Amino acid sequence: MRYESWRGINTVDKEFDSRVVGAAPVGARDRDSAARAVREMFTSIAPRYDLLNHVLSFNIDKLWWWRTARKFDAILRRPKARVLDLCCGTGDMTFALSRRTGSQTPQILGADFSHAMLQRASAKSAQKGRAATLRWIEADALRLPFPDGHFDLVTSAFGFRNLADYDAGLREIARVLAPGGEFGILDFGEPGGVLGSFYRVYFKKVLPAIGTVISGVKGPYAYLPASVERFPAPDEMMNRLHQAGFREVSWTPYSFGIAGLYRGVKSA
Ligand SMILES: C[S@@+](CC[C@H](N)C(=O)[O-])C[C@H]1O[C@@H](n2cnc3c(N)ncnc32)[C@H](O)[C@@H]1O
Repeated sequence: MRYESWRGINTVDKEFDSRVVGAAPVGARDRDSAARAVREMFTSIAPRYDLLNHVLSFNIDKLWWWRTARKFDAILRRPKARVLDLCCGTGDMTFALSRRTGSQTPQILGADFSHAMLQRASAKSAQKGRAATLRWIEADALRLPFPDGHFDLVTSAFGFRNLADYDAGLREIARVLAPGGEFGILDFGEPGGVLGSFYRVYFKKVLPAIGTVISGVKGPYAYLPASVERFPAPDEMMNRLHQAGFREVSWTPYSFGIAGLYRGVKSA
């Protein structure tokens, strides 16, 4: 399977591309085929995902997960809080949330549609002695198997950008959040200025080359920079968040905008 490797060489079905704003791996004809391609891609890199994450980000990813989790301390310290970490992958964001709970025991669920990623998350939670407090569920972020208004907090780290339809993803987050519930979406951005120029060379040339060698899989690490380019810029994303019914919407850049955290509250 091939994936979109460059915005200018976009072989995604043109009609699909103009209808839907979301991840569009090469060959995707509709939302379902895009989601299938994304799931297969993450399943193919699951065995090396953690190693690659830490190497390619120089371990800054740990700082980003920690910064994100601590923003939600007030919710995480409520004993009865219900928390969902969407697109949890191998669980590092979920573990960061769980570490902020102190002696309280909110219910924290990690959800992902790649079985291979979840198997790793589950094995890691046993190693970390957190198997009793965390649960993992195989689910599509666009069709969550939860009732309306179920969660107090929904997070997603580096996963939301991969959804085949961003607005549908926001609507689904809004649906499962209780009124007054909060979300946090951590994802990559595109830093500007001189740093941005150096970073772009790293992100578009060096990172895909290293990623391909270590993972042994060609497509995914070229798809990564292409998917970041395709992802809405902060202003546009915040408009979409308002339209989805969130208030107090904000974006906080991390590490000069290489990553950033979107936050908001579900209106009553
Ligand atoms: C880049 S990984 C991020 C994993 C983890 N949150 C982290 O910070 O390392 C993206 C994850 O999103 C998952 N994903 C993408 N689209 C999804 C969807 N529609 N429903 C559920 N999971 C999805 C993938 O399977 C993958 O595990």
